[in-house]
Amino acid sequence: MSWNPTHLPDQHGRTAVVTGGSAGIGYHVAEQLAAAGAHVIVAARSPQRTEAAVASIRGQVPGASVEGIPLDLADLVSVQQAAAGLQRRGPVDILVNNAGVTSGAERTETADGFETMFGTNHLGHFALTLQLLPALLERPTGRVVTLGSLTHTRAALTLDDLQSFHSYRSMRVYGRSKLAALLFAFELDRRLRAAGSPAVSLAAHPGWAVGELDPARPPVWSPTTAQRLRGAALALMAQSKQRGAWPVVRAALDPLAAGGRYYGPGGVGKLKGAPVAQRAADHAYDHSVAARLWDISETLTGVCWPLKEEEPAKR
Ligand SMILES: NC(=O)c1ccc[n+]([C@@H]2O[C@H](COP(=O)([O-])OP(=O)(O)OC[C@H]3O[C@@H](n4cnc5c(N)ncnc54)[C@H](OP(=O)(O)O)[C@@H]3O)[C@@H](O)[C@H]2O)c1
Repeated sequence: MSWNPTHLPDQHGRTAVVTGGSAGIGYHVAEQLAAAGAHVIVAARSPQRTEAAVASIRGQVPGASVEGIPLDLADLVSVQQAAAGLQRRGPVDILVNNAGVTSGAERTETADGFETMFGTNHLGHFALTLQLLPALLERPTGRVVTLGSLTHTRAALTLDDLQSFHSYRSMRVYGRSKLAALLFAFELDRRLRAAGSPAVSLAAHPGWAVGELDPARPPVWSPTTAQRLRGAALALMAQSKQRGAWPVVRAALDPLAAGGRYYGPGGVGKLKGAPVAQRAADHAYDHSVAARLWDISETLTGVCWPLKEEEPAKR
């Protein structure tokens, strides 16, 4: 079936949580899900930016059902509080693990002492997803979509130095954090199936998505003339973050998207274009590395997998 990213299936009555929905791709994912009729919860760390995103979505989508909640993925207490707050609100149909950081040349740490990119991009989402699982299992078709990146293809996970104590190079560590996110996404789907759960886990990447090509969404995003000119120069290779959201939204909404699928732009170099199913690099599907990463992630976060194999999940 062909997929039209501008004509989405109706989502009224469904609830979607988007991490990092205050800016960039996450903002556009939230806006597109709201336009499809979903109740959207923007989970982000800055109250001001979250409020601005919620107001902008309401401005863009008449009648949008949208709210914001605080979530700092670089702080496990905040993650636990966000998961508990979401759980109290009721069932969740879609969780989009979108938020991501790239750090600078110096190694930095999260509130819990994890290297910032590994701690935020992978461990924060790992803890959030596992703690939100009961709310996802309350729906017949709960879905988790986790953001990867093309950088995972060149990344190698050093399981004995996940915190990059011994070797820190910013872009290399970012690539590793996105490889960890993909290993998590595919392992989560395997575990859900092994537990007989109806929920599924998928992954997506936006290609190369730049704000310079985005439509204005003041005060969330108001590009300057210089940014517009830069965008024009980038347009041959890159796409807007609004379009970078398309593979994510397809993974979240396409009724034919099976668990374990990976969506990205279908154009040259997978950098831009219409959202299509793709295959990640082989090492993103490595079961034994994924299982070891999972165990380490449970130990580091103190959050454990709540389901038993073959246990019929709550419907
Ligand atoms: N853009 C690309 O070409 C590209 C390519 C491959 C993959 N990706 C992935 O796509 C996702 C979105 O990227 P983007 O380009 O839209 O990035 P972005 O414009 O920098 O937006 C990132 C979002 O994540 C939020 N965030 C950062 N740290 C957080 C934390 N500790 N807790 C909660 N939220 C946090 C940010 O919130 P604040 O507003 O508070 O900073 C912001 O809303 C990321 O996972 C990224 O790795 C992007």
